[in-house]
Amino acid sequence: RDNMNINEESKKEQLKDFSVNDSGQKMTTNQGLRITDDEHSLKAGDRGPTLMEDFQFREKMTHFDHERIPERIVHARGFGAHGYFQVYEPMAEFTKAKFLQDPAAKTPVFVRFSTVAGSRGSADTVRDVRGFATKFYTEEGNFDLVGNNMPVFFIQDAMKFPDFVHAVKPEPHNEIPQASTAHDTHWDFIANNTESTHMIMWAMSDRAIPRSFRMMEGFGVHTFRFVNEKGEAHFVKFHWKPLLGVHSLVWDEAQKIAGKDPDFNRRDLSEAIEMGNYPEFEFGVQIIREDEEFNFDFDILDPTKLWPEELIPVRRIGKMTLNRNVDNFFAETEQIAFHVGHVVPGIDFSNDPLLQGRLFSYTDTQLSRLGGPNFHEIPINRPLAPVHNNQRDGMHRMTINQGQTSYHKNSLNNNDPHEATEQEGGYVHYQEKVEGRKVRARSDSFKDHYSQAKLFWNSMSDVEQKHMIKAFRFELGKVQTKSIQQQMVNNLSNVDLNLAEQVALGIGAEAPKAPTEEVRESVTLLSPALSQLNTAK
Ligand code: HEM
Repeated sequence: RDNMNINEESKKEQLKDFSVNDSGQKMTTNQGLRITDDEHSLKAGDRGPTLMEDFQFREKMTHFDHERIPERIVHARGFGAHGYFQVYEPMAEFTKAKFLQDPAAKTPVFVRFSTVAGSRGSADTVRDVRGFATKFYTEEGNFDLVGNNMPVFFIQDAMKFPDFVHAVKPEPHNEIPQASTAHDTHWDFIANNTESTHMIMWAMSDRAIPRSFRMMEGFGVHTFRFVNEKGEAHFVKFHWKPLLGVHSLVWDEAQKIAGKDPDFNRRDLSEAIEMGNYPEFEFGVQIIREDEEFNFDFDILDPTKLWPEELIPVRRIGKMTLNRNVDNFFAETEQIAFHVGHVVPGIDFSNDPLLQGRLFSYTDTQLSRLGGPNFHEIPINRPLAPVHNNQRDGMHRMTINQGQTSYHKNSLNNNDPHEATEQEGGYVHYQEKVEGRKVRARSDSFKDHYSQAKLFWNSMSDVEQKHMIKAFRFELGKVQTKSIQQQMVNNLSNVDLNLAEQVALGIGAEAPKAPTEEVRESVTLLSPALSQLNTAK
């Protein structure tokens, strides 16, 4: 492992082993048989029926019939690029992750940007959250940071994800609308699940119509853990900060572009890379000590809450550069499989109930999307770190494992793969103490649904607020069921009364006279410990 010597080119080299250049070659069947005529099926007579015997026709047609794989259940439309990551300074104080130690080392990465709700063929510039998923091919195995361009999420518990997605996707009876939040089921969900309030504010903001993938922030959303060599942990949130700054379209542009150039964002990314204008993103971390877990007026395990950057500054610790377009969209962008559970030593999880559920969902969905348990062998998914274990066989297995034994422990083969110690890079889970009763419940500490939505609204400039009011009017205005509109406007009164009034005015709903709930003004409850931390910075 010490001799691995991964560099910027390593993934490119690995992919090269699988690439085939057909140009100028003699055409063959998949069995390698040379083909004399690829334009005519084998017939009984010039005008006669096609013969069953025509293996060449059958092979060609069968393969074509099975060319498509299921699109992702969410984030179906995406666009990817290769690049590399370099850390600015050793992060050993916080994490033992090797790719975060040596500023000279370049770790290959693959990034896939995506929209969430639309199908593979939908337009780029729709109002939606954007996915921002990064695979780091490190010497200790793949680390995936599967994030979005917004720092919070719609729901607090993974149990609700299928409901949320059912509501957001095109409605089941007529498959309308494609990639839009302007429909009844979407707003019915938001109105009835007030934990979504903070995120819907982001979704109605200009952040939901980015001008370019190169100009978007990225967020890991959940609280993760960094763990250092001594086994000490810190809570961490991950960020990507685009060096070009954050820029959005305005809604009128976004709509026109969706018609005139539905590939606007993907074209922009690939052309920028083609021209050598490599997109760059700084990697940021917000870090909280374990003993500060309860110092905040929000629960750090709640994915509908961000950590205000004024309280916990983002420290920029490295940079990612995207410098190479894919050679083949299907092989790379479509077949890549990200998973929040792909971690390396030094990076661990928290008990965020959304994250915990995601840890199950990704591999599970990929088993059907990518046809069985061997999708880690697909070239784009292969780690650069060597893979040795006793997993065998299954659909589409490519590896030819040698020897008589495929189990552990055994005494027939005294050289079977054996576990690594922690010192040898073996992954050891952070030994968090866990105790409690088994309950189906939501912690009381997750029950404030409005303070940060308020914080977000108050942080907007006049122009941004106007854009948001217009967005609410446009999207909510398309809802057919009046009671949903009213319920939603009432919810907004808990964020800001003026916002609620303005939205009500635009859609013919009744303006609420007062908030329907008592909500704190803002998130400012600095604990003494936290204010010290803040002053120290
Ligand atoms: C894709 C599940 C929340 C970011 C997916 C996919 C599933 C899924 C099944 C399709 C994966 C594939 O076919 O390869 C879930 C569940 C969630 C959840 C169950 C909550 C319980 C989130 C959150 C984020 C996120 C909070 C952002 C922090 C993404 C991204 C992709 C994705 C970026 C696309 C990855 C790619 O480009 O291939 N998610 N998700 N998801 N999810 Fe989630």
